[in-house]
Amino acid sequence: MRVVLGITGGIAAYKAAEVARSLMERGVAVQAVMTAGAQEFVRPLTFAALTGRKVITDMFGSGGADETLASSVEHIRVAQENDLLLVAPATADVLAKFAHGLADDFLSTLYLAFTGPVAIAPAMNTNMWRHPATQANLEILRKRGHVIVDPGDGLLACGTSGPGRLAEPEAIVAVVDQMLHPRRDLEGETILITAGPTQEPLDPVRYVSNRSSGKMGFSLAEAAAARGAQVVLVSGPVHLEDPVGVSVERVRTAREMYDAVMAHLPESTIIVKSAAVADYYRADLPKQKVKKTATLLSLELQPTPDILAEAGRRKGDRLLVGFAAETENLLEEARRKMTTKNCDMVVANLVSQAGIGFETDENEVTLVLRSGEAIPLKRASKRHIADQIFDQIAKLRLAAHASR
Ligand code: PMT
Repeated sequence: MRVVLGITGGIAAYKAAEVARSLMERGVAVQAVMTAGAQEFVRPLTFAALTGRKVITDMFGSGGADETLASSVEHIRVAQENDLLLVAPATADVLAKFAHGLADDFLSTLYLAFTGPVAIAPAMNTNMWRHPATQANLEILRKRGHVIVDPGDGLLACGTSGPGRLAEPEAIVAVVDQMLHPRRDLEGETILITAGPTQEPLDPVRYVSNRSSGKMGFSLAEAAAARGAQVVLVSGPVHLEDPVGVSVERVRTAREMYDAVMAHLPESTIIVKSAAVADYYRADLPKQKVKKTATLLSLELQPTPDILAEAGRRKGDRLLVGFAAETENLLEEARRKMTTKNCDMVVANLVSQAGIGFETDENEVTLVLRSGEAIPLKRASKRHIADQIFDQIAKLRLAAHASR
């Protein structure tokens, strides 16, 4: 397998050396391409030594007419010879160039000539990452089918803290590995996944909800679809685009989520409930907006239907995976939920820990199995965590088939 590793100008350019080394160790031939900006941070010699190949650093060679002629078609040759294009780190500038088809250096020209799969690992200052222009460019690239390895949260070289830090090299390599050797181990499965929060109205203009962004559930849906499953995603209100190849049903309340899950349950073989469903709702919903008064307001709330518990009652030989979002006694609570809701596995998520859980791009969870085994998964992007959850699900599925 052959990969082009595009390195653009950011402080994280040095981490691309680790990516190149790790790919080479897996037997992948790496052709490094460095933009002028990248060469300000790391010398091409580093990548030449690691990959055993001349690094491409400019569009046209500087050795006279013959070299110029050869260089002028080199991007076509490199595009044809390689199986995948990875850009790590990718600056806001290269995202914009790729999104809009600008071709003013070797990497951006190669991108237009390349017809294979593309993986992009952005890294930049938090404000640049959050800027609507960057997010719009990412959306264009995602829609084009490119895989974005989301940056992590943390302290950045510029001194600010937040999303923008290049994903860990091992996570980037895992994504590339999967793209080069796509696993189809979930082919034949119909997987029902829930995501996001629910909103429970208090009156026509107010509601109670929680901080779930849907990122964990959408990552699960993406991962399952990439591994060949038919995926139905039932999601509460979130601001995320439908994952490619997934059938998405949008709901608002716990009751609506319950109805959608029960409607899809019969055809599902695996159910993964990552949604943060509200536990209470207001049954005596007023028709008009509640007026503000100077006195204390008390509301009586009723418990919502427990969707996971009901799925547990109806599960038959389906595989049922619940989540447990906890701020204390993580494993005890996860085990309790496993028993009371009849799950085969519970993904225990300590949501009080900074940088993981609700809203974040990364997560760190423990997979609790019926056998009592607890498998900790190290902090990683939600997409990578999703894949590791499905690795375990695939094992449980195999074991269940074998024992039949
Ligand atoms: O969406 P993100 O911002 O990416 O955040 C991800 C997450 C933190 C929401 C996710 O990782 C997570 O932990 N999801 C479970 C949230 C939750 O509501 O946990 P819980 O412990 O309250 O519920 C236990 C299980 O019962 C969950 O599988 C839940 O979906 C289910 N449940 C809960 C209440 C209810 N009425 N019906 C249910 O099915």
